Amino acid sequence: MIPLASPDIREEDINKVVDVLRSGMLVQGAQVAAFEQSIAAYLKVPHVLAASNGTATLHLALVAAGVGPGDEVIVPSFSYIATANVVELVGALPVFVDIDIDTFCIDTAQIEAAITPATKVIIPVHEFGLMADMAPILEIAKKHKLLVIEDAACALGASDSGMLAGTGGDFGSFSLHPRKNITCGEGGVLVCKDREHAEKVSIIRNHGLSVSDGRVAFTEAGYNYRLTDIQAALVRSQFGRFEEILSKKQELVDVYLTELKHDAVTLPSCPQGKKHSWQSFHLLLDDSIDRDLLIDKLKIAGIGTNLGAQCMPYQDYYAKKYKLDVPCLFPNGLRAYKHGLVLPLFEKLTSNDILHIVRTLEKEI
Ligand SMILES: Cc1ncc(COP(=O)(O)O)c(C=O)c1O
Repeated sequence: MIPLASPDIREEDINKVVDVLRSGMLVQGAQVAAFEQSIAAYLKVPHVLAASNGTATLHLALVAAGVGPGDEVIVPSFSYIATANVVELVGALPVFVDIDIDTFCIDTAQIEAAITPATKVIIPVHEFGLMADMAPILEIAKKHKLLVIEDAACALGASDSGMLAGTGGDFGSFSLHPRKNITCGEGGVLVCKDREHAEKVSIIRNHGLSVSDGRVAFTEAGYNYRLTDIQAALVRSQFGRFEEILSKKQELVDVYLTELKHDAVTLPSCPQGKKHSWQSFHLLLDDSIDRDLLIDKLKIAGIGTNLGAQCMPYQDYYAKKYKLDVPCLFPNGLRAYKHGLVLPLFEKLTSNDILHIVRTLEKEI
């Protein structure tokens, strides 16, 4: 069986975790701080905070930005459901904007029409590791005095015209889930542009605890969104070979792009000036193909595939609550949800595995 994804955890990574276990210092501590520093150095940003997952980091960003009831937050129609859920969690209104079907990212031409006096934040999602068009998004945000929270859950290492994912907005949020390019099971990383936001995040991720002039006080009703040192040691070790991971994935993607040619398949592409981090290899099938049946057939043939992400306003909770005319308002998000397919892509795959996947797909389609 070739799974959809499988993290490459090496002996050296395991040894780093064992060292932490032997030390007895398990919760957020020196390992977390060292991991935050490595990410800050890589992204060339001053404020990086690790947290328990990439949903927690989005939630922390919204709370630190002061978003709450009565506020509106612009999100793409197509993403992992967490992007909209966090807006609900703070009691704000998610305002969906359809995606560009070529990139699976928010259609920037439709953003301004969705802005109202209540809009506070835009959350562009760098879907599958390809950055949304940041220049127009940042321009719109500046014009309308909005904050930008980049949902870069899948996009550590991606860039757009030299700007690294997570560094252009007011916040940049990353996930360390096992399907991401580096992982510690569950984990997240948040970049904050402003020191004040970073201080607030640091307090609310840890029960609202703050230290000022040596005085310890609980100044907020915070969360426990801490990453552990066990997790930080694991992901820090993998991050040491991050460039190697990205180039291996690019090599494998190149094999897919050369080998997979089928009339019913639209391959993913990476526009000029952008660097893809290839969290997923997501293709679009012709409407005539029964995607779910194809997933079943590939599973029987020993190949793990899946749909890519959700058309969020189409999911039960959002459909019931907002009753939006999804096919009319978000045709691209719905199409990507119903006809998208993710093929296996992870470091331990070989070119031969990919040839086998491509030939099997061509046979079963
Ligand atoms: C776009 C996007 N946002 C948010 C998340 C949530 O991250 P986590 O699973 O670490 O909570 C994911 C996870 O896959 C994601 O793909």
